[in-house]
Amino acid sequence: MKEKIIKLLNDNIEVLTAEEISDLLEIPPKPELGDFAFPCFRLAKSMRKAPQMIASEIAASLGEHPDFLQEIKTEGAYINFFLNKEALVKGIVENAIKEDYGSDTEGEGKTICIDYSSPNVAKNFHVGHLRTTIIGNSIYKIYSKLGYHVERINHLGDWGTQFGKLIVAYKAWGDEETVKEKGVEELLRLYVKFHEEAEKNPELEDEARAWFHKMELGDEEALSIWKWFVEISLIEYKRTYDLLGLDFDHFTGESFYRNMTDDVIKKLTDSNLLTESEGAKIVDLESYDMPPCLILKNDGSSIYATRDIAAVFYRKETYNFTKCLYVTGQEQKLHFAQVFKVVELLGNEWAKDQLVHIPYGLVSLGGAKLSSRGGNVIYAEDILKEAISKIKETINEKNPDLPDKDTVSRIVGVGAVMFNDLYNQRIKDVSFNWDKLLNPDGETGPYVQYTYARCSSILRNSIGYDQNAPIDYSLITDPASIALLKDISRFPSVIHDAADKYEPSVVARYVMDVAHSFNKFYTDNHINVDDEALRNARTTLVVITRRIIKDALELLGIGCVEQM
Ligand code: ARG
Repeated sequence: MKEKIIKLLNDNIEVLTAEEISDLLEIPPKPELGDFAFPCFRLAKSMRKAPQMIASEIAASLGEHPDFLQEIKTEGAYINFFLNKEALVKGIVENAIKEDYGSDTEGEGKTICIDYSSPNVAKNFHVGHLRTTIIGNSIYKIYSKLGYHVERINHLGDWGTQFGKLIVAYKAWGDEETVKEKGVEELLRLYVKFHEEAEKNPELEDEARAWFHKMELGDEEALSIWKWFVEISLIEYKRTYDLLGLDFDHFTGESFYRNMTDDVIKKLTDSNLLTESEGAKIVDLESYDMPPCLILKNDGSSIYATRDIAAVFYRKETYNFTKCLYVTGQEQKLHFAQVFKVVELLGNEWAKDQLVHIPYGLVSLGGAKLSSRGGNVIYAEDILKEAISKIKETINEKNPDLPDKDTVSRIVGVGAVMFNDLYNQRIKDVSFNWDKLLNPDGETGPYVQYTYARCSSILRNSIGYDQNAPIDYSLITDPASIALLKDISRFPSVIHDAADKYEPSVVARYVMDVAHSFNKFYTDNHINVDDEALRNARTTLVVITRRIIKDALELLGIGCVEQM
């Protein structure tokens, strides 16, 4: 429809290109002003006339087009287009009814790497990691929908001097049984214990360095203990991933790149980028208004940044990405700016637009009571479990006969936490308020899922609906149906917008709009009416809405239930 209007205007305005017209064309704030409006201010200069006059003249020259326009009116300097409602409805329904509505081939043949989640081994999977996991997963889904091939990379923090400390602590104060039984909680305890003891006995630090050095040299004992710590931790992280219903293509943590850092040093040396500073090796970034990027510590060991630089080259060579995205908290902004700059300085112009850091805000726990294990440490897993059990309580109270309560509680409870995380722009802080995020009448996951279940229930009860029967489009031109259809028509552009901005909240806001419009439509219109043609037309809207809610929630990584 929009295309048709652009073409019509383009045929009648000499001084603007179709693209310029498309940019100027607006969607008016009120339905009384039509479905599209074209402002004529820009034409005043070149046409040497008052904008109002131009609007009237152009409007008069456009002619009548009953096949898609009901009316063309001018209002001041605006030409307002009123679409032929039946044609509008038909156009949207015919598009949206297709199974792959919203999908695109834009990404065909292109690969995107997303580096997200990436918890630190032997440490708890905390609320911050929950955010990168949820946001990264959604960005993966959004890009996949647009036809991109996506490599999901979990860059585990599984290398570094902290493992030397952990080995020392384990040998001194730990035992196999307890680690097996308590997992990360025990590893965390040992790590804390190390620091307490090292205060009193600084020699422990030397011991730890020696153990890490052994790891770097490939010492069997050191590596086998380290590997076991990684396995123990992964078991727990995978439990959290299972709850969230997501997975990765690669668990290639920092250790994966440990033998590739020499090559980074060589590249930097060959390009004369490495300078010495207090025994350490750095890349000076002063000309770019950044502190130097540390590459080798004075004991010769590589660091986080060195391994990140190695990872960029490995990924470029292995996956030939068109973009490599990094989802982490905003406190790592400088780290990535430095890493990207160093890669660029090594003669890789592409680093400028292909390496992208996607930061997000903090999680504020506010007054929320979140269960914490020893040392006031909050585990993402516990938060998810708490959400699930709260939902289960409600179900037991309000709908005790619901089938498969466990699955429903999991999908709704976890969905509520995810939706709460994704509903606001990612850079904003997320707050945790159980009553708010679980409220089925609020702007929440449960509200959207409930709307989906309502659609399902309507369809279960619909009598003799025939998907293939011709639809009388004139029957669904009432304001509530049109408003719902207009929301439905936005789905493809919403997905593109979310991808361009790396912003799942665009999809979350959208699905909320659809749910609101649907519920308004449902209040205004009975679906299961006697009139067969009317019933069929309205039911088609339910079918489409239900699929869009499912697909949009899927883009957020959130599931749906048929009853709740
Ligand atoms: N392990 C890091 C952390 O927990 C995040 C890693 C992000 N990815 C990367 N390539 N640096 O803070």
